[in-house]
Amino acid sequence: VHALSYPLGGKYHIAHGVSNAILLAPVMRFNEPACRSLLAKAYDRCLRGDARREEEKSAAVIQRLEGIVKHLDIPTSLTEFGVPKEDLEALVASGMEVTRLLVNNMRTVTPDDARSIYQQVL
Ligand SMILES: [Fe+2]
Repeated sequence: VHALSYPLGGKYHIAHGVSNAILLAPVMRFNEPACRSLLAKAYDRCLRGDARREEEKSAAVIQRLEGIVKHLDIPTSLTEFGVPKEDLEALVASGMEVTRLLVNNMRTVTPDDARSIYQQVL
């Protein structure tokens, strides 16, 4: 989230917390296979709904976080900040340069992965 957020602050002056919130759900869905059991544990501790299978639980946690972002009226798209779709490749290149953060991610992030995540919020 933070790595892919940086190019958005630098070039488009989107507040870091806002761009983090915009990217939160897509990045969590990307990371979900690598942290499913942790998210399922969070579900058991915080949501305690009807979900039984781990993937249902982790999906519910991500959905809840996405709901909080929407509830707070934080935009869910970069187009509201005037980020043109034509800037996608530049965003991917800039995001992939934030290696000090990317190396700590639970899943390896390739340029294709970053592109797919940005495409979800453009
Ligand atoms: Fe950050």
